[in-house]
Amino acid sequence: MNITITKNELEFDTISALRIIAEMLARPRAVIGLSTGQTTINMYRIVGEIYRQHPFNLSEITLFGVDEVTNVPREYSGACYTMLKTQIVETLGIKETQFLMPPTVSDNFEKECRRYETELQTRGGIDLLVLGLGMNGHLGFNQPGTPFESTTWVSRMDEALEARIRKETGTPPEKELGGFTLGLKNITHSRKIILAAKGIQKAEIVQKMLYGPVTTAVPASILQLHPNCNFLLDAGAAKYIE
Ligand code: GLP
Repeated sequence: MNITITKNELEFDTISALRIIAEMLARPRAVIGLSTGQTTINMYRIVGEIYRQHPFNLSEITLFGVDEVTNVPREYSGACYTMLKTQIVETLGIKETQFLMPPTVSDNFEKECRRYETELQTRGGIDLLVLGLGMNGHLGFNQPGTPFESTTWVSRMDEALEARIRKETGTPPEKELGGFTLGLKNITHSRKIILAAKGIQKAEIVQKMLYGPVTTAVPASILQLHPNCNFLLDAGAAKYIE
C-alpha cells in the first residue's frame, strides 16, 4: 500500500496541493473529483495560492463534486457546491462548463444520478479523486453498510451532520435531507485516488481502513484493493500505523 505520513499539517496540506497540481499539469484534460470538509480546506487554498503566483493552463480541466447535500439551496454555505466554488473553483477561474456538481434539488434524483455518471464518462472517466474519510469510515456519503457495487445514488448522511444542516438551513423535519454521492463502485473505478485524513480523532478509523478486514462495515476499507490509491496521513491520523 502506498502510504505517506507527513510531519505536520502544513506538510500534509502542501503535499496534497502539489499532487492535485501535478495531475492538472500531467493531464490538461484531467477529470478531478473533490470532497469537501475540514480536511481539504487548506489544501485547496494552497492550490489557489500556487496558481495565483504561477498560473498554468486550466482551461480544459474538469473539477466535480464527489457528493452533495440534497434539498438545501445551492447557495447555503454548507452545500458542497458553495464550498467548492468558494474554496477552489473561483480562485482557479474554472469555467462553469468545467465545474460539475450534482443538483441539490430535483424531482427525479435517480435520473440525475445516471446523468452525472454519464457526464463524467463522456469526459473520459475519473482521473483523480480527492477523498476525505468519515469518522465511521464513510467515503462521500456512502455510510457503513453500503454495497461495494453501489453506483451514484442518494443516501442518508450521518445523524449528527443531518441535524446540523437541518438547523442551519431551517429545514423542517418532514423534508428529507439526503447525500447525493458517487457510489463505491464509481470511487474504485477512478484511475487515481488520494485518501486524505488528518488529526488524531481519525487515528482509529485510519487503522481499521488500512489493516482491518475489507468490509462494507468500513466503506473506506475497499481502498486497500485499489491499485493506485495514496493514503495521505498526518502524524495524528497515523498514530496507530507502524
Ligand atoms: C462529509 C463529506 C465527505 C467528507 C467527509 C470528511 O461526510 N460528505 O465528502 O470526505 O465529510 O469530512 P472532514 O474532512 O470534515 O472530516
